[in-house]
Amino acid sequence: MTDAARTTATITRLGQQGDGVAEGPLFAPRTLPGEVVSGIVSGSQLTEVRIETPSETRVQAPCRHYKSCGGCQLQHASDAFVADWKVEVVKTALRAQGLETEFRPIHTSPSRSRRRATLTVRRTKKGAMAGFHGRASDVITPIPDCQLLDPALIRAIPLAEKLAMAGASRKAPLSVTLTASEVGLDVMVREGKPLDGSLRLELARIAGQNGVARLTWGDEQVLMEQPPVQAFGPARVCPPPGSFLQATKDGEAALLSAVQEITKGAKRLVDLFAGCGTFALPLAQDAEVHAVEGERDMIAALDAGWRRAQGLKKITSEVRDLFRNPLLPEDLNPFAAHFDAAVIDPPRAGGEAQIAQLAQARTPVIAYVSCNPVTFARDAKTLVAAGYCLNWVQVVDQFRWSAHTELAASFTLDS
Ligand SMILES: C[S@@+](CC[C@H](N)C(=O)[O-])C[C@H]1O[C@@H](n2cnc3c(N)ncnc32)[C@H](O)[C@@H]1O
Repeated sequence: MTDAARTTATITRLGQQGDGVAEGPLFAPRTLPGEVVSGIVSGSQLTEVRIETPSETRVQAPCRHYKSCGGCQLQHASDAFVADWKVEVVKTALRAQGLETEFRPIHTSPSRSRRRATLTVRRTKKGAMAGFHGRASDVITPIPDCQLLDPALIRAIPLAEKLAMAGASRKAPLSVTLTASEVGLDVMVREGKPLDGSLRLELARIAGQNGVARLTWGDEQVLMEQPPVQAFGPARVCPPPGSFLQATKDGEAALLSAVQEITKGAKRLVDLFAGCGTFALPLAQDAEVHAVEGERDMIAALDAGWRRAQGLKKITSEVRDLFRNPLLPEDLNPFAAHFDAAVIDPPRAGGEAQIAQLAQARTPVIAYVSCNPVTFARDAKTLVAAGYCLNWVQVVDQFRWSAHTELAASFTLDS
């Protein structure tokens, strides 16, 4: 390709996926605002990108796999740039709804702290190869020196390869989800060969020799050496295979600390989209909690964890679809009782229906945990219009080097 065929552009901002965006819009991966870049235009993408004038915020990627691996998007930017950008993403979403508030300094999880990862594992002529998909490709990049994952997950790469040698078909790669637990690895495999007696025995043997606490193959449990428990406050919970877990223990602690501060002093709490009790169980050290969640197995895990724990106040729980059937004012303010505070931690779609009911019920304190600044800002507007004050936002970055942004926010009712 001659230089004449190349287009030059100046990056003005980052898009939602962390790609640089130039006028057009023209998306250039792994570029930064202010950079002059050149490349070949292909639709709205700039390919074969060359950095002509680098930004001062450009750094050498800390991971040697970054060039080929698609696992991270923002290792070419300084930590300070990423931190400012993530806070700005939330401020921009709030401004679009006419809102402003105080922002606490961002909390970023350390490198090598991600406690769950899904590896793609392909059989090869010599054995098997595990890693992440390359950038925008099906090619698997091996990641022995990954800077993102908890070392326990890195140590399990050979295990993932052994599982593929035993149970992957020649056609499709395995998808192996590794989760670090308090007692060993929780391993969930998808796209494997159908289980038969001898495969089951072989998989159990491999898992047993490699420190696996639980192995789930498709929907079947192959081995349960020990329940792969997570510690939520004083409780130990065995989550259903693959169910939601905060991405890092450190990020979970930062979110919990914000939620505890917001709801301090509450005697009765409702935890909405409660999962397996990440917040409900630690909060039950000081308050009675009603935990509501859509997945029956998660509520069962939460309830079992509560029953085994010592020194917690009462937790009641309910399986409920909070999009279609949110808790109503009469549920939130039952006769002679009411919830002093609500914790709400919805999926990316946000909590529109439930937030409207909380506002109507006038629940005095709301701790909102969000993984999507846009739906958070939409719901924040509903609360503010109903008379709530958005006191502060704490951005928590547990998806380091990605474009993903999480936060906790404090709302109280203006009296
Ligand atoms: C972001 S996770 C938070 C879970 C928990 N608070 C935690 O920190 O571990 C969102 C939770 O909402 C649940 N969920 C998704 N859609 C739901 C719905 N329509 N009704 C109730 N729960 C739902 C998911 O199963 C998941 O546990």
